[in-house]
Amino acid sequence: MEHTIKITKINKSKVDDLDFDNIPLGRTFTDHMFICDYENGQWNNPRIEPLERIPTHPAAMALHYGQAIFEGMKATVDVDGSPMLFRPEKNAIRLNFSADRMGMPHFPEDLFVEGLKQLVAMEQAWIPPQEGSALYLRPFMYADEPFIGMRAATSYKFIIMASPAGTFFSNRIKLYAETKYIRAVDGGTGEAKAAGNYAAAIRPTELAKAKGYDQVLWLDAVEHRYIQEVGTMNIFFKIDGEFITPQRDGAILDGITRMSVIDLLRHKGFEVTERAITIDEIIEASNNGTLEEAFGTGTAVGIAYIQDIGYKDQVIHVSDESPVGLDINDTLNGIKTGQIEDPFNWMVKIEKELA
Ligand SMILES: Cc1ncc(COP(=O)(O)O)c(C=O)c1O
Repeated sequence: MEHTIKITKINKSKVDDLDFDNIPLGRTFTDHMFICDYENGQWNNPRIEPLERIPTHPAAMALHYGQAIFEGMKATVDVDGSPMLFRPEKNAIRLNFSADRMGMPHFPEDLFVEGLKQLVAMEQAWIPPQEGSALYLRPFMYADEPFIGMRAATSYKFIIMASPAGTFFSNRIKLYAETKYIRAVDGGTGEAKAAGNYAAAIRPTELAKAKGYDQVLWLDAVEHRYIQEVGTMNIFFKIDGEFITPQRDGAILDGITRMSVIDLLRHKGFEVTERAITIDEIIEASNNGTLEEAFGTGTAVGIAYIQDIGYKDQVIHVSDESPVGLDINDTLNGIKTGQIEDPFNWMVKIEKELA
């Protein structure tokens, strides 16, 4: 489908005021945003305009009933200087999967990718030049209909914001396996990237941090034994030469880094199994010396190497080194910056002069 995106440019870019060596993470936004309105059963008026506050009615349904979903992805730069996106169509598909679960309308996948491309082309000066940096992109949709009452809203906004993200040094992280609070259960909203899932995770994450851990390791809601995922990452373990990642159980997020890491590991000759894995199995593997490494995978960090897992009153030592994790991280970063061949055709290049 052809879409005409109306463009209104800011008079003077703020990019010249940005110190690329000191980017306040998550607080810096580019000059423009992509925005589209849903009314009367259809998406109207796709446009890119200066980023500014949006007037919100106090009864906007997202504020009360939580119809709000989002995506997260990054734009990087190829060796020839063109901006690129990593598998953007996967984010478009996942947004609509989330929309289904939350009773929200689909957003056209081609317009999702086109909006991203045009916005990134316009904001390419904001992509930090440092190795390992990127322009973080945040597509999201929320119910803006002013209405008090429990039903699906009839009007929504779809917006894409962009925020430069500096180099993220991944230290080895410590996880706290949570046995009281849960993140999600099959039949709930865990497989959707719904804002409310994150709201429910904030308090347990604060408590884990107060105990000296970096993130929560979520266990299943019924038996508190099966490992699900971590904060904003999926998880992989290497036990006795084989990689194991929790299978999709209706509650974990279908991470795009996860699916890519599975492909990369197999491409490099490793065996990868998606199956249910319990915390007891990790304890046993740690005790008998077969737990070789573990890492989290996600857009924000790429690969985060796991050192220890706190569980009840014990600390499970994972490993002090992650040679395969490091190699996978280098390969992913190499593909995302055009320095390593992209064997799966993941990267979508954006014409520099598009906007
Ligand atoms: C709960 C959760 N799990 C996993 C992930 C990793 O997904 P992705 O690799 O698509 O970033 C994220 C981040 O989006 C997340 O929020």
